[in-house]
Amino acid sequence: MPDMIELEQLTKLYDGQSTPAVDSLDLRIAEGEIVILVGPSGCGKTTTLKMINRIIEPSSGIIRLQGEDVTRENPDRLRRRIGYVIQQVGLFPHQTIGRNITTVPRLLGWPQKRIDDRLDELMHLVGLDPSTYRDRFPKELSGGQRQRVGVARALAADPPVMLMDEPFGALDPISRERLQNEFLRLQEEIRKTIVFVTHDIDEAIKMGDRIAILREGSVIAQYDTPETVLAAPADDFVREFIGSGAALKRLGLVRVRDVELEQWPTSPISAGREAALRALESSEHGSLLLLDERRRPLRWAHARELGQPGGSLEDVGLEVRATVEPSATLAGALDSMVGSRVGVVVVVDGSGALLGTVDMRVIMAAVETVRTDAREQVPEEVSAR
Ligand SMILES: Nc1ncnc2c1ncn2[C@@H]1O[C@H](COP(=O)(O)OP(=O)(O)OP(=O)(O)O)[C@@H](O)[C@H]1O
Ligand SMILES: [Mg+2]
Repeated sequence: MPDMIELEQLTKLYDGQSTPAVDSLDLRIAEGEIVILVGPSGCGKTTTLKMINRIIEPSSGIIRLQGEDVTRENPDRLRRRIGYVIQQVGLFPHQTIGRNITTVPRLLGWPQKRIDDRLDELMHLVGLDPSTYRDRFPKELSGGQRQRVGVARALAADPPVMLMDEPFGALDPISRERLQNEFLRLQEEIRKTIVFVTHDIDEAIKMGDRIAILREGSVIAQYDTPETVLAAPADDFVREFIGSGAALKRLGLVRVRDVELEQWPTSPISAGREAALRALESSEHGSLLLLDERRRPLRWAHARELGQPGGSLEDVGLEVRATVEPSATLAGALDSMVGSRVGVVVVVDGSGALLGTVDMRVIMAAVETVRTDAREQVPEEVSAR
């Protein structure tokens, strides 16, 4: 992919300050990528973002957009190519949601019909029903809904580049997670080049194709894929920033669909004890899964329990509680596993039918693979540390 944004020696020295807020930053961002700028408060993330669309004028350095030097281009023209979601949303309080979202198209003088159609499309895109929310005011929306409006407004004129400054910062963890997931799904459709600022390393790992970990003055401590940052942090600053639990965080990068599932013997619950015992005899496992007529897992049963005389299998063994779908992360699977009583998570498809299982051994093997793969991508001087 060609570079969409290229920053060269970009520097900002605010009036009256002795050290630059951004100090000679070099950064290349490929087309269609989400790059996360992450770093401690005050390290210069917002200043960097605002220089890219020249809300803040750089003291020195060069900004290139699609190979073209835009450092001195008319800022209004530049901003049409760049959508901006500001820290703390910043909707106009006395304007309706509809007018907030259509700010840029109205500035650009689009015909009314085109503006109305685009508004409808954008509201659907971010999951807000136009007829319900179009004429409301920002204060009549929840925090999460306002964040969606902020995203819709930035997308309005369909710019190739989006700058997002802590777009989900003010949300509770559940709404935040939901919006992150929706946004990742949306990005698969719209494929924008996105520069996304956060100070939350977990959000960075989840959302980023690449992560730039910044120290004071927007100095890059490491610029790599999330896998590499986790497996081979460049120095102690990065290691400290990642914090504890790097191995657990890696589990958030691997999906259940990416690992080989374990297979267990199965038997239809309606087929009875004899059939279940026969299924077990021809396998090396000591337990099997009892399924309903649509191959949905119902119970775990052990040979010992099946061997006892009795009628129906409806309450033999343990109920299957922990199930996940292939789109779940291994972190999610581990969480289900810890909450279950059997140390095995059952993987089912969208209709609930059995696909296989994940256990601790599978998870450990996956962590090992991620580590090895990431190490192989790391330049030698880094992995030698
Ligand atoms: N208008 C300004 N005038 C002078 N100094 C400023 C101005 N804006 C920011 N700064 C300083 O520049 C540095 C970087 O600020 P910036 O807002 O870019 O940080 P940040 O990384 O976005 O922090 P946060 O995570 O808290 O949002 C800080 O030391 C800040 O005090
Ligand atoms: Mg900031």
